[in-house]
Amino acid sequence: MSAAAPISNRWTRLVGVDHPIVQEGLGPFRTPRLAAAVSNAGGLGTVSMPGMPEDIEAGARTFREHIEECASLTDRPFAVNIPVGVDAAGKVLPFTDSYIRMVLEARRADSEIARRLTVMTTSAGFPGDYVGMIKDAGMVHQHKVGATKQAVKAAEAGVDVILAAGFEMGGHAPSAKVHTYVLVPSITEAVDVPVLLTGGARDGRGLAAALAMGAEGVAMGTRFITSTANADWHPAYVQALLDAQEGDDVAFDGVYGPCRGLRNAASQALLDHSASDAPLDPVELVRWKIESMQRAQTTGDTTDSLVMTGQVASAINELVDVAEFVPAMAREAADVLRSLAASLDAGVLAPAAG
Ligand SMILES: Cc1cc2nc3c(=O)[nH]c(=O)nc-3n(C[C@H](O)[C@H](O)[C@H](O)COP(=O)(O)O)c2cc1C
Repeated sequence: MSAAAPISNRWTRLVGVDHPIVQEGLGPFRTPRLAAAVSNAGGLGTVSMPGMPEDIEAGARTFREHIEECASLTDRPFAVNIPVGVDAAGKVLPFTDSYIRMVLEARRADSEIARRLTVMTTSAGFPGDYVGMIKDAGMVHQHKVGATKQAVKAAEAGVDVILAAGFEMGGHAPSAKVHTYVLVPSITEAVDVPVLLTGGARDGRGLAAALAMGAEGVAMGTRFITSTANADWHPAYVQALLDAQEGDDVAFDGVYGPCRGLRNAASQALLDHSASDAPLDPVELVRWKIESMQRAQTTGDTTDSLVMTGQVASAINELVDVAEFVPAMAREAADVLRSLAASLDAGVLAPAAG
């Protein structure tokens, strides 16, 4: 193990990165530069899906441009995140199908993209038939779940890595509403494939805790939004996350199930709508939600637009420099584990440095 990679495990070797640290999907936003910065720092960056525009082919073209931009900025492995949307009958929605096929086609058409874009992370619904397609394409398939039985089903279907998503996470949170501290050990006991914790992690102590629960890394969203590498986000959005205090976040009805963001006029309007008996047109409502989320990112309107964030924003008070932060977080996790083991051996267990 090199000094630059203090924690090496099944997952880092499978994906070919130095550190068990992921910048996970942050759709419907632009993240090619952030993803490249995280991959260049030795973690795994993720290009996010660009939303579900009426013209899905235009959405797929935008997504591909973001992938090409990321590939031009890093020589290291990176991922894409594609939520699996399903209709009331359980049928996969066209945007998911179109985006997965676009990714596979982009890799077939360009060997430089294929060499770097080696991981596909799906989330939301069950990826079903796509598991075989992704495997046949030679990609590592990660799938994000919020319940142990979903993890078992995905692993049995052939998914390579499970992301165990706790309810404190930012963005679309699992409808089972189980928090990481309960969910992660249950999932690591239930499946043999590598598991990553997603939700609430922000530093090396969180990574050490994830490893203690049997996970092999962490996948973060909020921590990376609040970084200097994140030029795609309006500064006012980032500042609102830095200013957030405990209790400032809330789960409202999102595009596919509950969604966590800041308490403001926009999330309150959705809570009021959910409680009312005069529902709006569901298609219009989904469009409004996505536009509102994107408006917050591009204009910095944090009052009347939906500001997605994890609960962990309340504990994040400063921007980090991704290039320094990723290796330092891995070192901190290794130091925490070492110092706990040493103090245990010495007979008095000292608290890990905070
Ligand atoms: C602004 C925002 C957008 C997100 N968009 C997506 C998405 O498009 N697909 C997805 O699977 N997860 C999405 N997530 C969840 C993240 O990938 C990640 O699992 C989550 O942020 C982890 O929790 P944390 O914010 O506490 O680190 C989003 C999270 C945030 C904060």
